Amino acid sequence: MNSIRLRPPVDRFYVTTPIYYVNDRPHIGHAYTTVIADVLARYHRLFGVPTFFLTGTDEHGQKVQQAARAAGIPPKDHADRTVVRFQELWRTLGITHDDFIRTTEPRHTTAVQAVLQELYDRGEIYRAEYDGWYDITSETFVSERDLAVPDGVSPADLPGIIRIREANYFFRMSTYRDWLVEYIEAHPELIRPEFRRNETLGFLRTKELGDLCISRPKSRLEWGIELPFDRDYVCYVWFDALLNYITSIGHTRDEAMFARWWPASLQLIGKDILTTHTVYWPTMLKALGLPIPRTVFAHGWWLMGDAKMSKSLGNVVDPLDMIGRYGADAFRYFLVAEMTLGQDAAFSDAAFARRYNSDLANDLGNLLSRLLTMTTRYCGGRLPATARSVDAASGELAAALDTARQAVVSMLTTYRVDEAVVAILAAVRAINRYLEVRAPWHQAKADDRVPLHVTLRTAAEALRVCATLLHPVMPVKMDELRTALGLASPPSIVDLADEPRIPPDMPLKLSGPLFPRMEPTIELTTVGGRPPPPKVIATRNKDVVSIEEFRRSELRTARVLTAEPVPNTSKLLKLEIDLGSERRTIVAGIAHHYRPEELVGRTIVVIANLVAAKIRGIESHGMLLAASARGQLRLVTVDGDLPPGSPIG
Ligand code: MSP
Repeated sequence: MNSIRLRPPVDRFYVTTPIYYVNDRPHIGHAYTTVIADVLARYHRLFGVPTFFLTGTDEHGQKVQQAARAAGIPPKDHADRTVVRFQELWRTLGITHDDFIRTTEPRHTTAVQAVLQELYDRGEIYRAEYDGWYDITSETFVSERDLAVPDGVSPADLPGIIRIREANYFFRMSTYRDWLVEYIEAHPELIRPEFRRNETLGFLRTKELGDLCISRPKSRLEWGIELPFDRDYVCYVWFDALLNYITSIGHTRDEAMFARWWPASLQLIGKDILTTHTVYWPTMLKALGLPIPRTVFAHGWWLMGDAKMSKSLGNVVDPLDMIGRYGADAFRYFLVAEMTLGQDAAFSDAAFARRYNSDLANDLGNLLSRLLTMTTRYCGGRLPATARSVDAASGELAAALDTARQAVVSMLTTYRVDEAVVAILAAVRAINRYLEVRAPWHQAKADDRVPLHVTLRTAAEALRVCATLLHPVMPVKMDELRTALGLASPPSIVDLADEPRIPPDMPLKLSGPLFPRMEPTIELTTVGGRPPPPKVIATRNKDVVSIEEFRRSELRTARVLTAEPVPNTSKLLKLEIDLGSERRTIVAGIAHHYRPEELVGRTIVVIANLVAAKIRGIESHGMLLAASARGQLRLVTVDGDLPPGSPIG
């Protein structure tokens, strides 16, 4: 190992997660962002880089006010109750944040008011009349163009869209448009991945950037930070929330601390909050005369099948349930390894079991067990010292270790934790292959014990390097592994060296398997108490169908080509679908649950051989499948990308 090349490429690291709304239970999406931030913070600390890791909760705004009303308690009490869920989850997941900010804390509200006053005094915020559409769900003012309403439909017919006419306060965001385009062009590392950078640039180049409405009249929304220059208004929740990244580290309160950490090195976000973080946020900072963060990294979504997880769909994965079943470290590993940072990934229990069994139980856990078993059997449980720590015959292994170390160092600037984990697991597999080639079970039969000792030590020291590299991802399990190898925890950067670190005189401890193999499961792990599927009882009664009867229904996948409302009804949509071999028209009663534009391009499931029926004068050839419960209706879809017309059954 060349220690020069292991020098960290940065001298400080300030990482943030979005602050989570307290109207909801934490789910896998929240856990993902926070785990990635934690893993990166731990890697930087391992390399001795001064690190500050911030997370917290977003406690103002309409969503929180509505949730509190539904619970029948004041918003602050509601926030106090729900914030604990996040804090407990982070404890259980081993999250090592340095600060947890709640936007209802005085340190935040006071600083936000100071910022508002400063911008108002400087003319960056002005008062004006607004008359237009407002989206209650996203709490934003929207234009008809944004809504893409079909001809003849009024935005007022769309769910959650209302007309508003009121005086408000606006931030002069539009004046920073040209500056922002130039800044993004000159700083390729600001928005990652690259395609998200293009998305923001495309948005800025093609859409007119208006000024940002930063107030809400108290008559409409009480739950927010009061504007210091007009007590009849509260601050728009996003303007307040974004400022958490600077109020927490002392802006307007502790300038020395602020100067130490700002600008942030990395702001991790989900792709749905790209515009707020790459348009609103940099222009706000520019208006305040503050530097822009180095990188805003937008990750993808965890999907269930091809649908986003959401509470209303009842398909949300509960992190506490996963941790209870598989342990915090296995869950952390799955999150990091399964998702390419920046892309979407599908969650399923089967994917979890696959990843766990192949990487953790087989490749890593078995390696430790084999090594400990052989050391016990052939060497009395102690790993003898050898003249050479790394076997000269282990070229492939040495190269794999070096690649893994370098991948981790690169990750300190690319943030691609998933890539680093791939390289580390490749090194683990290289150790397994090395053992196969060296066959210590044969070497143990020879009189000359040196080759056996060299093999065992080479493999064990390589495993120590891999365990050190994996420590930020699975801190508890890797401490267990280190203890089994006779190493004191916690690890440090010297544990990445080739030089031997495992004491020759300590008996290695063989306890149970580090990652016991798990049986693949098919049940879904969701928040919301969906009842388990009923057991199939093999008796014949009138509710039971035979396989032959079932097969008479021709279920197929179909791609939606076009979708449009059926005139004079509010419930029906007319869909043109591609069934692989043919195009069909079907009429479906789903207009209260899906907008036409949400359907186009999606793969659905239809009964293709249903007798045709005329509905409102339209010939419908087939029926789509959907599930409904508690007033909700959701389409049945397939897990993965299959061509239209694929048979189901
Ligand atoms: N409060 C705002 C953020 C303000 S930051 C100044 C917010 N909160 S949130 O709780 O709704 O979402 C927080 C993060 O969780 C977002 O980045 C969002 O993308 C992420 N996730 C929510 N659902 C997700 C998945 N299904 N998958 C991955 N992450 C997703 O937005």
